[in-house]
Amino acid sequence: MTAGLPLRDSRRDVVPAPRRFGLLSSRLGIALYLLLPNHWVQKCLSPEEQVLIRKGNQRHNTQRPDYADPTQYQGGTGYDSLIDPRRERSRRRLVAFLDRVRPASVVEIGPGSGYLTKTIVEHPAVCRYVAVDVNEAFLSYLDQRLASVSKPGFTYSLVTGTVDDLPADCVDAAVMLSVVHHIPGRENLFRELALRLKRPGHVLAIDPTHYFLRWYKLIRKISRGGYLSHHLAEAQLGKLSTHAMCQLSKYRAVTQSAGFDIVRVEFDDHPRKVRRLAGAGVPLGPLWRWTSQEMAIECVQH
Ligand SMILES: C[S@@+](CC[C@H](N)C(=O)[O-])C[C@H]1O[C@@H](n2cnc3c(N)ncnc32)[C@H](O)[C@@H]1O
Repeated sequence: MTAGLPLRDSRRDVVPAPRRFGLLSSRLGIALYLLLPNHWVQKCLSPEEQVLIRKGNQRHNTQRPDYADPTQYQGGTGYDSLIDPRRERSRRRLVAFLDRVRPASVVEIGPGSGYLTKTIVEHPAVCRYVAVDVNEAFLSYLDQRLASVSKPGFTYSLVTGTVDDLPADCVDAAVMLSVVHHIPGRENLFRELALRLKRPGHVLAIDPTHYFLRWYKLIRKISRGGYLSHHLAEAQLGKLSTHAMCQLSKYRAVTQSAGFDIVRVEFDDHPRKVRRLAGAGVPLGPLWRWTSQEMAIECVQH
């Protein structure tokens, strides 16, 4: 009964709340979720959808069979593996970063099964190693291995959670190897990271890029029958996770606003033809970036 109520209140009772367009509620929305850059997608998600994605992220990072059992991660490539040719470029970039910065203490965000962890802890400059990962299974796996590092004065600690769970001013440098594309809130990531670094803190991030070849691959997948319907059902069950690859422009914006300057950018994993053109000295301008599939950025606090 609303007859005795003022008009404003009675209307509130009968008029349904306007329904906003939900990115995760239609196949078109899912296509946009996959294709658009991360920061646009994050702006378009409703709070309820953000909760679903957080649930999907937690699930992906802890329950996917190869994440739940670290010995299965990346086909068994981990801390104990000898050189893996697929990861060699990242390992070389990491060594070059450690050689340049020579940090005494390093935090690795999302070490996984630690293929690159060994390179960090064995670097002569590094005395203290901190790992933070949302997946406790990875950290237990690493614990057994880190305990046997026989470097004089070497210490380590393992933190289950995110960068927000680290103490302030705790390390000289941070590395994120294939991790940023799993984290939707990049402003928060870099802002919180800035507080955890001893000034001037250094960061190395290596991740897949979100340019032409990523779009091309996604469009091919999307045009396969059933792909979007499957992802729509997964999204609504809280099983869709963040795999939003990175773009340089967004890195520039988030690092700048968190007090970092980007001091080095390298693009990799180009098609052979593009590499050949670049090798022949053809000036490719932004095409070099747009045809890359991996990007390494290094930044330092100003
Ligand atoms: C693709 S794996 C990369 C593992 C490792 N860095 C490598 O290159 O082999 C992503 C890692 O990030 C972790 N991760 C995902 N989201 C995270 C977050 N918000 N904070 C910390 N770790 C996270 C996952 O549990 C996983 O260990």
